[in-house]
Amino acid sequence: MADNPHLADDLRRVLIDEDAIAKRVDELAAEINEKYKDAEEPLILVGVLKGSFIFLADLSRRLTIPHIVDFIAISSYGQKGNQRGEVRLLMDTRENLSGHDVLIVEDILDSGSTLSYLIRTFKARTSKSVATAVFLDKPARHVVDIDIQFKGFEIPDVWVVGYGLDYKERHRTLPYIAEMIPEN
Ligand code: XMP
Ligand code: MG
Repeated sequence: MADNPHLADDLRRVLIDEDAIAKRVDELAAEINEKYKDAEEPLILVGVLKGSFIFLADLSRRLTIPHIVDFIAISSYGQKGNQRGEVRLLMDTRENLSGHDVLIVEDILDSGSTLSYLIRTFKARTSKSVATAVFLDKPARHVVDIDIQFKGFEIPDVWVVGYGLDYKERHRTLPYIAEMIPEN
C-alpha cells in the first residue's frame, strides 16, 4: 500500500493502514461465514449509520453466506458536555428482524451505550440471535460491559478518523485509520 501517505495537518499519525484493515476484514468475514454457515434464514447485517458504512460494505462483499444488508440511524446524547449516554432510534430497519440472526455492524465501541441500547432493542424483537461486529474498540472508555463477537482492532483512547469515521464530517473516506490532533 501507499506507505507514508501525506497526512492532513490535523492528523497525527496513521494507526491502522489499508493493508492491515483489508487483512483483518478478511479474517472477520471468514469467522462470520463459519459461524452462520448452517443458518436456515439469511443473516441480517444491520449497519449503524453513518460510521459503519465502509466497514459494512467491505465485510458484506467478503461474506459467502446468504445475508441481507440493512441500516439504522441513531442519535446519541452525552458525547459532548454531559455523560448521560442516552441513545435514540432515528431510522429503523426496513427488514422485519423477527426469526432472523442479526449482526449489528458498528464502527467503534466507546462507552458502550450505543451497542447496549441496540442489543437490547433487537433482542426485544425476538430476533433469533443478536451478535455484534465492531471494527474498533477503545477498551479504556467502556462504561457498559458489552459482549463483542467479532472485533477488528483495539485502539487507545484517542479520536480516530477514516474508514467511515469522521470528525465533523471530515476525513470519513480516508482508506486508513488515523489519529486526530485534538482541537483546543
Ligand atoms: P458509545 O459511547 O455509545 O459510542 O460506545 C459509540 C459512538 O461514538 C462515536 N465515536 C467515535 N467516532 N472517532 C469517531 O469518528 C472516534 O474516535 C470515536 N469514538 C467514539 C461513534 O459514532 C460511535 O458509533
Ligand atoms: Mg457511530
